[in-house]
Amino acid sequence: MNKSNNISELNYDVKKYRSDFPILTREVNGKQLVYFDNGSTTQKPKVVIDSMTDYYTRYNSNIHRGVHHLSQEASTAYENARVTVQKFLNANSANEIILTRGTTESINLVAYSYLRKKLSPGDEILITEMEHHSNILPWQNLCEEMSVVLRVVPVNNNGELEIEYLQKMFSPKTKFFAFTHVSNTLGTINPAKEIIELAHANNIAVLVDGAQAVPHMQVDIQHLNCDFYCFSAHKVYGPTGIGALFVKEDILNNMVPYQTGGGIIKTVSFAKTTYVDGPLKFEAGTPNIEGAVGMAKAMEYITEIGIEKIMQHEHELLVYATSKLNTIDGMQIIGTAKNKAGVISFVVRNIHPFDIGAILDQQGIAVRTGHHCTQPLVEKFGIPGTVRVSFGLYNTKEEVDVFIAALEKTVKMLS
Ligand code: ALA
Repeated sequence: MNKSNNISELNYDVKKYRSDFPILTREVNGKQLVYFDNGSTTQKPKVVIDSMTDYYTRYNSNIHRGVHHLSQEASTAYENARVTVQKFLNANSANEIILTRGTTESINLVAYSYLRKKLSPGDEILITEMEHHSNILPWQNLCEEMSVVLRVVPVNNNGELEIEYLQKMFSPKTKFFAFTHVSNTLGTINPAKEIIELAHANNIAVLVDGAQAVPHMQVDIQHLNCDFYCFSAHKVYGPTGIGALFVKEDILNNMVPYQTGGGIIKTVSFAKTTYVDGPLKFEAGTPNIEGAVGMAKAMEYITEIGIEKIMQHEHELLVYATSKLNTIDGMQIIGTAKNKAGVISFVVRNIHPFDIGAILDQQGIAVRTGHHCTQPLVEKFGIPGTVRVSFGLYNTKEEVDVFIAALEKTVKMLS
């Protein structure tokens, strides 16, 4: 937490950006909404909502199979979305971008279409203690099915990965390493490039779960040089039910389809089917076309603002809110890594996080409470869960002040 840029110096017009999001004007329980649950899902700007309405109003049609005009417009929009994602992540080619339902489906796809074929009994898959359940369960299931061992890199008390320990865990048996770029519970930003280099030096393929990174920071796939990277559009101001998986082209070309069905074939006979090349091989059935349109529009929207500016704005909110929270009696912040995104998890004395969340809600403030789909991590800290505040591009210091005042009142009530 060492960036010093001041928001005012950033030319960051948060008022203007707020006005782009219709939902931010609404009241909840008679109070102006303060939305601090962006780690769960972000709100959508009007341009994103309008882009999907426009799709259904003007050019709704199925893609890749029609010669008629609407089908061609829809196909172009869908493939343009793939290119937008490629540019957003600075991937080498749009052929490396599979459009999926989101992070969860992306990880399951890699488990099935890539790793399953490569495992022998006794091999090891490595993950970390700070993974979301979506980056634990697919590997755990694969381990059970293939008699493979799941090994877990520990996290220290600040919520940082034990990198030295990690190096010792790599062995010739390690076939895969999956880790999160940014922890959804702790906010820790992992040193992804360094970790990927270490894994590659041991000939281990790497998947990075970018669900909590893509909304908050510049992600440059070519710089990271990972083998797989995934995210969900709804956490980046886009719609639900769509996301993307980056796969290095030479790896992708050797993967088997995840699901089979229409749209992924070259030829079908009752004796044999051959598949198309490239990402379409992993997109069987009619895809989420309006989702792709909305996702691309969301990426254009945040590119226009500038992801670096968003990151600095959120960093200021993080520093400001952290210092205010630390003045509250009994406050324990869970996750105090040096390098954090705009996410703060905390507990206050022995007050249950659900109780705090419910009373904050009565005051119009949306936070998340519980284990945040990272149950093993939360248990490691010996707590039932946390209250989590996660910032988005439209949050303000004034909202932090409202939240802190409401939290002080809440803690008094519950003590
Ligand atoms: N993965 C989402 C979160 O962290 C739901 O809240």
